[in-house]
Amino acid sequence: MNSKNDFHIDLTEEQIAFFRENGYLSIPRITTDEEVEWLKGIYDELFTERTGEAEGRYFDLAGPRAHNGRETLPQVLGPEAQFPELRETVYFRNAHRLAANLLGVESEKVSGGGHMILKPAHYGNATPWHQDEAYWNPEILPHSLSVWLPLDKATVESGCLQFIPKSHKGKVRWHRHIDDDPLVHGLVTDDVDTSEAVACPIPAGGATFHHCRTLHYSAPNTTAAVRRAYILVLGGPPRKPDKPAHRPWQTEEQAALAKLKSLAVDRA
Ligand code: NI
Repeated sequence: MNSKNDFHIDLTEEQIAFFRENGYLSIPRITTDEEVEWLKGIYDELFTERTGEAEGRYFDLAGPRAHNGRETLPQVLGPEAQFPELRETVYFRNAHRLAANLLGVESEKVSGGGHMILKPAHYGNATPWHQDEAYWNPEILPHSLSVWLPLDKATVESGCLQFIPKSHKGKVRWHRHIDDDPLVHGLVTDDVDTSEAVACPIPAGGATFHHCRTLHYSAPNTTAAVRRAYILVLGGPPRKPDKPAHRPWQTEEQAALAKLKSLAVDRA
């Protein structure tokens, strides 16, 4: 749909330097309004159909596995498996190129895939403070970032991302499962000074970038509008750490899901 509708975004040297120093970056636009509208159709279908639920690719990030209550933070992993055309979008192309620039990796060496997190109007849950790397294989040292595209205006009240500047330069903090329930997929760290948080409200079609080790959070959605986000995790070749990291909070199921997610990433 986008061959006639290309839309090229570039970053300045200052923006790249800001990302490397602070571990995050916010830009007002990464794709067109037209494409955002098209993406909403796919997005809503994936969540209405609960696509991939049987294979563990649809679940509530904030609730215990397969609970029957109200879902407050539903997530779809690897939507590109169902809709390969998601890889042909203006968003995907811009995200891929900008990720290569920010990470300092040749574009051909960048690979990755997506997930979608929905915050329902009025009761969408907080995504508590965490580092993405805390979810991942401790035997790998990733060189990656997330690109976060809201399909709806993202404000502090609807759940835009918030970051702790420079936290990507430190270690992966101690994490635990939300509600201390190992059946809940989502992780949280208490090792964070929230007074340092910087909120990044952006319009629909804008984007924030964060390094895989940057501490981030988004508030509950208290607005009357849904907050749909489509995230791409993109990275260059990972390295092997000197010794595997110690992440005892990872459950077997979580490791399996992380693998599923990395498979989605590897398929790029
Ligand atoms: Ni995250």
